[in-house]
This record gives sequence, C-alpha cells and structure tokens, in this order.
Amino acid sequence: MQLTPEQITQFRDEGWLFLPELFTPEEVALLRREAEAIYAEQRPEVWREKSGAPRTAFAAHLYNEAFRLLGAHPRMIRPVEQIFDEPVYMHQFKINAKSAFVGEVWQWHQDYGTWKRDDGMPQPRAMNIAVFLDEVMPINGPLLLVPKSHMAGDLQASHDVQTTSYPLWTLDNDTVARLVDAGGIVAATGKPGGMLMFHGNLVHGSAGNITPYPRKIVYLTLNAVSNYIRTPTRPEYIAHRDFAPIVPVADDALLHEARRFAAAAE
Ligand code: SIN
Ligand code: MN
Repeated sequence: MQLTPEQITQFRDEGWLFLPELFTPEEVALLRREAEAIYAEQRPEVWREKSGAPRTAFAAHLYNEAFRLLGAHPRMIRPVEQIFDEPVYMHQFKINAKSAFVGEVWQWHQDYGTWKRDDGMPQPRAMNIAVFLDEVMPINGPLLLVPKSHMAGDLQASHDVQTTSYPLWTLDNDTVARLVDAGGIVAATGKPGGMLMFHGNLVHGSAGNITPYPRKIVYLTLNAVSNYIRTPTRPEYIAHRDFAPIVPVADDALLHEARRFAAAAE
C-alpha cells in the first residue's frame, strides 16, 4: 500500500493523516478481544488508572500473536517507510483503554518531547500511528489534534507526574492557546479499523471518557532505523532497544489469524 501525493501533502502540511477503515471488521474483532484479555492480566506492562481501570498495555506485540501481526502489518509499515524513505523499527507499542465511565485525560503534549528527553531520540523522525479498535466518537474521549502545530518544533514542556498515573511532558495553557489560535482543533473520530498517522511534534491530548462506550486505540511508534534512541532511561518494554528493521508480514496474515481463532472457538 502506498500513499498518494495528496495524502503526503496533507501529512506534511497538517501534521496528520487519517485512513478510514484500513483494517477489516474481522481483523479488528480479534484485536479487540485480545486487548480485553490483556487488560485482565496482572503484568507489569499493564498500567492502570488511579481507579484501577486499565489505562494502557505496553509491548503487546512481544507477547501476543495478533498484536505481533499488527505491529508488522504492511498496510501500516509501507506508508511510514514511504514518508521517511528508510526502514523503521518499533520504538513503542501501547493499547490505550480509555475505559467506559472512568478513562482519564491525556494532557496536551507532543510525543517527541518525551522521546527526546527520556529516550535520547535525536530527531522527530518517528511516526505515531493510532489504530482504532472501538468506534471513536466526539463523546468518548477522541484524540484532539492541533493541526499544523508540528511546525512549531520541540516546545518547552514540564514533567507532570501528578495528574494521572502516567508521567508525561506536558505543555502550558498559553502555548496550547497560541497554537490553537493558528490551527484550530480536530477531533480524530472514526469507525473501528481506522488508522491515524501523526507527526511526533503534533500537539495532542484527550479528555476523560464519562460515557458507557470504551475507546480502545492501539498506538504504535515507528522510528526510522537511523534515528535509533541513544540514551534510554525508561524500561525496555516502554522504549524498545531492538533497532532491527521491521520485516512486514503478508497482507492477509492478520485475517488468517482472526479466522483461525474464530474456528478454534467454535
Ligand atoms: C497519547 O497521546 O499517548 C495517548 C492519548 C490518548 O490515548 O487519548
Ligand atoms: Mn501522545
């Protein structure tokens, strides 16, 4: 799969690109079931909200077959290689729950802020991918993007370890207001199976989820191989140290796994 010149222009100018329903309902149903099973496990990779509800599960591509296949899926890997013009490796992999009723806020931030400060990533040459496992609606805590804010470069940030259970380098309100004044805010909504690509310096965040509708999204960070992290401080399951280029699986590998799983359940 290749991006069109118009899609590449949209990504470069706006800092984000959405590909609706890139993964099929059968593929997504498998991933959704597996995500729920992982949240039910007690393991260090599963982080919880202060309430105890799951917030994020790290590194599932290393211990779950369906997520391994997603993490090497050509529908995702090929467009990112096309943008960076080189092979990529998995820097981070997480399944964010944003649980019904209790899913908490993600404060305004840029992801490259954390990759640079905590992981020693030289350049913002890593791509953020969000694969929707549930329908993401305006009401259940969609990701909010500030278009064009990736042009502002790496902004000053402070380390917030209070607001949620997840430490984050966050932006101050004046900075966010200035960037929103210029670019506005877009809520990234769509059906399960949609895939959002966004720049490492794009300002984003999300509100809490007080609805009965969960909002599970897989976030993958694909880093250009030459941009491997130099001085990691976070555990290996958060900032990976395997810099080998991802070799994509077959386009139908995830579908076959979904069918194998469904047949075994009958
Ligand atoms: C993130 O920015 O890393 C997660 C945001 C979200 O899941 O809403
Ligand atoms: Mn983020």
